Amino acid sequence: MVRARLRLVAALGATLLIVGTLGWMWWSSLVPSTYSVMEMGYLDYGGGTRPPIAGHGMAGHGMTGHGMAGMSGTGHGNGGESRSVTDLDTDPDRPADVTVDLTARQQRFTLPTGEEIDGYTLNGSSPGPLITATVGELVEVHLHNASVPDGVTLHWHGVDVPNAEDGVAGVTQDAVPVGGDFTYRFVVPHAGTFWYHSHQVSHDQVVGGLLGPLVVQPRHRDTSVRDVVALAHLYGGAETVNGHAGHLQVDAEPGEQVRLRVINTDNGPLEIWSGEPLTLVATDGYDVHGPTPFTGRTVDVPAGGRADVLVAVADGGTRVQLTGDVSVVLGPDGARPPSVEQPERWLDRLHYGTPEATPLMRAKADRSFRYDIGHRLGFVDGRPGLQWSINGHLFPDLPMFVVEEGDVVRIRISNHSGDVHPMHLHGHHAVVLDRDGDAVSGSPWWVDSLDVRNGETYDIAFLADNPGIWMDHCHNLTHAAQGMVTHLMYAGVTEPFRIGGGAGNEPE
Ligand code: C2O
Ligand code: CU
Repeated sequence: MVRARLRLVAALGATLLIVGTLGWMWWSSLVPSTYSVMEMGYLDYGGGTRPPIAGHGMAGHGMTGHGMAGMSGTGHGNGGESRSVTDLDTDPDRPADVTVDLTARQQRFTLPTGEEIDGYTLNGSSPGPLITATVGELVEVHLHNASVPDGVTLHWHGVDVPNAEDGVAGVTQDAVPVGGDFTYRFVVPHAGTFWYHSHQVSHDQVVGGLLGPLVVQPRHRDTSVRDVVALAHLYGGAETVNGHAGHLQVDAEPGEQVRLRVINTDNGPLEIWSGEPLTLVATDGYDVHGPTPFTGRTVDVPAGGRADVLVAVADGGTRVQLTGDVSVVLGPDGARPPSVEQPERWLDRLHYGTPEATPLMRAKADRSFRYDIGHRLGFVDGRPGLQWSINGHLFPDLPMFVVEEGDVVRIRISNHSGDVHPMHLHGHHAVVLDRDGDAVSGSPWWVDSLDVRNGETYDIAFLADNPGIWMDHCHNLTHAAQGMVTHLMYAGVTEPFRIGGGAGNEPE
């Protein structure tokens, strides 16, 4: 009798304990409806000095509560001065060299294929207009939101702009409401291929077409090479290039050289190849040093990433395949070069091109971070299930990577989550050091979007030379919306914006 009763009490106790623990896990995972990303998660100094940080300490409801309450803030951080992201901006007195007006709409539109899409446009089309500038010029973009109910922003993917121009809703600005305007002004510091997209409810708006290409030309451009942008995007599940399904025909003369600027705006990797020799001349807006032509290799373009390939137009035309479904045909009208099967071998960017002195690759790190991506059971904002974890933690209890201006920073990104993650750090380019211990032996490999496949570990380094608060997230925007979002924070930088709040900011 007594024993049976004891057993019952023990069972009840265990049940209560489990229910209580689960309840606590559920409750503590709830994300407040409005918060500053500065309060998110826990501070990670990467083994470096620990400058004081204002107003920090949030992890769901279970507020860990270290740091000071409120952010009235003067006198934190390096040198004691605090700066707001809104002050980290372009010289307001410098006149613009390139001016562009972009009007964002939520609308039904017709692709060149004739397909009707419910999505988003800029100046009535998706992709939006190509913005071109020459390196060093100041680009000024007037954004107007005509009809996007959730509000919009524009982020200049891969362009290392001042923080105030980064276009992240709730981090560097408020989402622009219907009827509202925002002016972006930034100098384009690097020649290369980039793109722009909304960073408000981006898993919906970017997928729905609120994006466009941006090309920065060098001061002395080789005009003998034809320049062609090939922006790949999935609309309603169908892959397109510049909005065209099947293939994009580009008029070119046999013998002509073409620089094809491939932009992957999707959530997954894009694979490119051709039957003609390709030369990979740039990735993520940075030139490859000493590139040589290759055949029989597939090139991976991570989600968000870009690859510029140089290819000659063959007599019967040249076809460059972007995945199996779409291609670019370079040649006279009517040219139908055959498609070729995808090569099984990959171009390994670690060993492509020739080395070039890059002090950052040898520099001693001031901070070394770990960015360990896993997949485990847990709650995120009250949702139970398998979640992406970073360094074992779940959103929003994620590391806040703290740096000081001038730091040499290393990050070891490892992935054992069962899926590929295209990792994207805003505001900086990092140089790849090695993958699984295999060091770069070719050209320096600069990235803003890096595919880290399951089982891989990359070491990358960057110089902290662009103060602000920067997103560092997975560019599979579905993953980002599920919580694969962290931030890099410069000590002493504060910000007035909030996730949620009156503007309904929701960057993912
Ligand atoms: Cu294409 Cu957070 O960015
Ligand atoms: Cu991901």
